[in-house]
Amino acid sequence: MRRRIGVLTGGGDCPGLNAVIRSFVAVLVEEHGHEVVGFQNAWDGIIERNTMQLDVADVRGILHKGGTVLGTRRGSPLDTPDGPQRVAERVAQLGLEGLVVIGGNGSLTVAHALREQVRLPVIGVPKTIDNDIMGTDVCFGFHTAVQIATDAIDRLHTTSESHDRIIVVEVMGRDAGWIAAHAALAGGACAVLLPEFSSTVEAIAQAVVKRHGSGRSSSIIVAAEGAVRAQGAHGALGAFAAGLQDSTGFDVRTVSLGHIQRGGTPTSYDRVLATRYGVAAADAVIAGQWGHMVAVDGNDMTSVDLSIPAGSTRVLDEETYALVRRALL
Ligand code: F6P
Repeated sequence: MRRRIGVLTGGGDCPGLNAVIRSFVAVLVEEHGHEVVGFQNAWDGIIERNTMQLDVADVRGILHKGGTVLGTRRGSPLDTPDGPQRVAERVAQLGLEGLVVIGGNGSLTVAHALREQVRLPVIGVPKTIDNDIMGTDVCFGFHTAVQIATDAIDRLHTTSESHDRIIVVEVMGRDAGWIAAHAALAGGACAVLLPEFSSTVEAIAQAVVKRHGSGRSSSIIVAAEGAVRAQGAHGALGAFAAGLQDSTGFDVRTVSLGHIQRGGTPTSYDRVLATRYGVAAADAVIAGQWGHMVAVDGNDMTSVDLSIPAGSTRVLDEETYALVRRALL
């Protein structure tokens, strides 16, 4: 029997979303002869009946492209009292067997709530450059974001060396310091600010002074967005840099990489990982694993109950933090 499955991308975009959509369609449509209906602009597409048929021809040529062909939005059907019921009704009206939600912590929490509240058949696919979703070892998009940050840090090294400066590079990571820790390690930073482990201007200044006392005259410091916010409200990056300049006497500049980390083409690693996620999601649909999120466990694809990612954040592990403490110079 021909089955009809809905799919949406929710929350912030992330390199690799199109690769997931592509392999998901490849397996369900090409291999099994089922039908895939895409909802445009996340949950809004369900409420507004903004759909897009996804055939094999529609997903050709999108593997290497950043962003999402489905569009995405923040916002949730849980924000209105009748939102969950309306989602369930639309899905039923369209004759969909269920919905695949490719999203981050927020979208997966919504997906789990819809499963609980209105029995929506839903399968989650974890996506975020922040790599902070519980239940999976790695999210696609993370590798690309780290590579972009590392490339930027490589460039910042040469200008900071020319001017004998300290440059503080703010990377994304609202609640978790995965990007910051990996970019600091890969980029050869001398210190890193992480949301999970508090640090002070004084402690960072000490690390810089020690380094400069041993012959270096420039330094890169990586700061996760969440850690910068923890230092103070709006303008915290500038205030942190000013404090560092006062404490060390060195010239300090700041760079915030922002959405550059989310844009553009995914790395080959993320294309393959995202493709694996899409295939796993299609297999989960075939197996009727509603209420689950597809996940990576070590090197294997698996699935976990949607309650695991819902409402929680996977923060930086002790092992990576220990590596950071031992390897930054
Ligand atoms: O969750 C991914 C992320 O890029 C965070 O690192 C960042 O804090 C947030 O999204 C930014 O969201 P927006 O694009 O809505 O400003």
